[in-house]
Amino acid sequence: MPDPTQPASAMAATSSQTQRPRVAVFSTRSYDRTSLTDADPGQQIDWVFFDQRLDATTVGAAEGALAVCVFVNDQVDAVVVRQLAAMGVRLVLLRCAGFNNVDLVAAAEAGVAVARVPEYSPHAVAEHTLALLLALNRKIHRAYNRVREGNFALDGLLGFDLHGKTIGVVGTGRIGATFCRILTGFGVHLLATDPAPSEAVRAMGVQYVELNELLERSDVVSLHCPLTPATRHLIDEAALARMKPGAMLLNTSRGAVVDAKALIRVLKSGQLGALGLDVYEEEAHLFFRDLSGQVLQDDVFARLLTFPNVLITGHQGFFTREALAAIAATTVDNLHQFLATGQPRHPVSVERIA
Ligand code: NAI
Repeated sequence: MPDPTQPASAMAATSSQTQRPRVAVFSTRSYDRTSLTDADPGQQIDWVFFDQRLDATTVGAAEGALAVCVFVNDQVDAVVVRQLAAMGVRLVLLRCAGFNNVDLVAAAEAGVAVARVPEYSPHAVAEHTLALLLALNRKIHRAYNRVREGNFALDGLLGFDLHGKTIGVVGTGRIGATFCRILTGFGVHLLATDPAPSEAVRAMGVQYVELNELLERSDVVSLHCPLTPATRHLIDEAALARMKPGAMLLNTSRGAVVDAKALIRVLKSGQLGALGLDVYEEEAHLFFRDLSGQVLQDDVFARLLTFPNVLITGHQGFFTREALAAIAATTVDNLHQFLATGQPRHPVSVERIA
């Protein structure tokens, strides 16, 4: 594993000799290395993998690269973008759909193109959201431990029939719509809120309402909107207070859509009945690494882990074989299209900042 704090000038020379475009891949895990190299069978790309995330302290590792390839918690802020541009990096390849971690204005000003993977498997995230819902409702996380310890008592494991309940879906884009489609098989009432309602979703029998009405009527609220300035802390103390007492909240979108501190208050009071998270506002310091031997420094996260009615996964909604292969294929295609035309296949532009 190259050291990202060291300049990569020697490697750059190798790259120019072979004429292959160099891509510096940050936040690399073994599965990223496998999927990206599998998506480039002709070895046309000179991948350089770093396990560190991209930020102002590691950006030097991109020296000599044409593009950087980053994930959800890499920090592509204005400082990093300007340094990338100064080093000759011309493209940021996001291995994800969300782009809230990239300063698009700075990128446009610096002439650095940004590409993303708009769709890889909405099924992966929608199915994971359903897994959280069903596990929380039927207390599978608790039952699993009990049975392993020879405790077959059912007290505390009481759930409810999903059939007949009202599920509120915030954001009916690719993932939200897929989640709705899956839920039509459960005999539930579906409410949704989205500034751009979808006719296809309406045709599934989903009723669009304002956010406040959705919060007040839903037994389960599931978040599938992007993180934008408008959706940051969309679910705050006031929104949580509007929810039905004992309702369930699921967030597999982006952590900062929910105010995590406010969650602790409503969980303590019992106002919130259950919470399923795949994302967390401060996850950049936690997720995608094995920290099991270390003392947890995040007191909010540590408190959330203590509630029996909270189930947290570490941003694994996307993590299926199909999704990884699709992410890698689109990333490679974004690069090839950029090399051929000067524009990636799926560019992200400033206009996308809502
Ligand atoms: P999408 O762009 O297809 O759909 C997002 C929808 O949210 C759009 O219909 C948009 O109009 C709507 N929206 C925007 N502002 C809203 C608001 N204030 N209230 C309600 N709806 C609003 O995006 P996609 O692919 O469905 O992704 C949804 C979310 O899932 C994103 O936050 C993305 O970052 C996250 N995600 C999470 C993953 C995970 O592993 N947990 C993996 C992939 C995406």
